[in-house]
Amino acid sequence: MPKKVYIRTFGCQMNEHDSERLRDMFVQRGYALTERVEDADVIIFNTCSVRKHAEDRVYGKVGGMKVLKKNRPQLIIGIVGCMAEAQKYEIFKRLPHVDFLCGPADLDKVPDIIDKIRNGAGHIVYIESYKSKRIPEFSKDRNAGHAGFVKIMEGCDNFCSYCIVPYVRGRERSRPSKEILEEVELLIKKGAKNITLLGQNVNSYGKGLKEEIDFVELLRKIDRLIHRDCFARHRNNGGLAMTKIRVSFLTSHPKDASLKLFKAMRDLKSVSKILHLPLQSGSDKILKRMNRKYTVAKYKKLIESFRKIVENGSVTSDIIVGFPGETEKDFNDTLDIVKGLQFDGAYIFKYSPRPGTKAFKFKDDVTLEEKERRHSILLNLQKESKTRSCAQFTVLKTWS
Ligand code: 5AD
Ligand code: SF4
Repeated sequence: MPKKVYIRTFGCQMNEHDSERLRDMFVQRGYALTERVEDADVIIFNTCSVRKHAEDRVYGKVGGMKVLKKNRPQLIIGIVGCMAEAQKYEIFKRLPHVDFLCGPADLDKVPDIIDKIRNGAGHIVYIESYKSKRIPEFSKDRNAGHAGFVKIMEGCDNFCSYCIVPYVRGRERSRPSKEILEEVELLIKKGAKNITLLGQNVNSYGKGLKEEIDFVELLRKIDRLIHRDCFARHRNNGGLAMTKIRVSFLTSHPKDASLKLFKAMRDLKSVSKILHLPLQSGSDKILKRMNRKYTVAKYKKLIESFRKIVENGSVTSDIIVGFPGETEKDFNDTLDIVKGLQFDGAYIFKYSPRPGTKAFKFKDDVTLEEKERRHSILLNLQKESKTRSCAQFTVLKTWS
């Protein structure tokens, strides 16, 4: 009987994608996948640390597995991903029945870690992702559905003051374009129609690579590849309509989004016209404290240019309410810009202090009730904002 593995994911699409790669890797090693913890020989939680709530849910879920482990001591439980890094000193204290921790830059090591535990290694901790310069290569094969994700870069050098990502995923590093193109081609051959390029900060793709390339050039190469591939299919299947393959990308930082990118979104046929451009706050004072490196005026101008250049383009955003020092006036400024810009979609978050970040030292002076009030006002406003219909929206979902 093959061993069974259960993998549960929390957090962003990068995590969903990492879990997808973990599953591929386990299947290639002869494991079967299961949706039921009761049947599993190995249970893995791929976790998120961006907000405390996400960590609390994992503590709750894994805490509930104590009995399972007591009844079946050979069961192996692992916590991987961002929380393994962020909570490395806490997890074993609070969850002694966990067998291993593994940070996001070393997920390709997980099956070997499990083998070592089976051979009596005891607890294993593999958590140096924050220092890592590598992007794990899981396997050459991909199990693709209609939608396929391709990681183009990982990590972040921006150090927004509220954000834990640079501390858990490490510095920015990009994958060589050749590897990315091979993976895109493989996904297309397996039938993927929606390809999403993933990175914490896709616009700074190419930094540190030996080749001279930036994100727009990468999009061009992918577009050329898709047209070549579509063309080949068209020819082989005489009369078959050109396959419609869409390439989306997540996430862009306003300080790096450029007119060059918008023009590429307009001109490259396979590239989606959805721009996810997190605003975070509509107050310059708060943006500065967040270390976002742009002003509200610059952000507005960017969106105006985008809408001028990319006809039928859509803009989505992320906004944090209740950041330290956010007054009623700052919040009203955010409401004003959200009213003015009419995003096609926005994720609204209540500020959550993250130990180790710069903002953790600021006084968390907006009460939870007030954060909740601001959150619901903004959510209602966003719901009212007329959502332009866009079939591609299903592809774009940053948070689960
Ligand atoms: N508190 C609340 N929201 C946060 N985000 C990142 N860090 C925090 C935090 N400490 C939000 C930002 C980011 C999205 C992925 O999560 O809006 O764009
Ligand atoms: Fe976090 Fe800012 Fe980097 Fe995004 S750009 S991952 S919010 S530090």
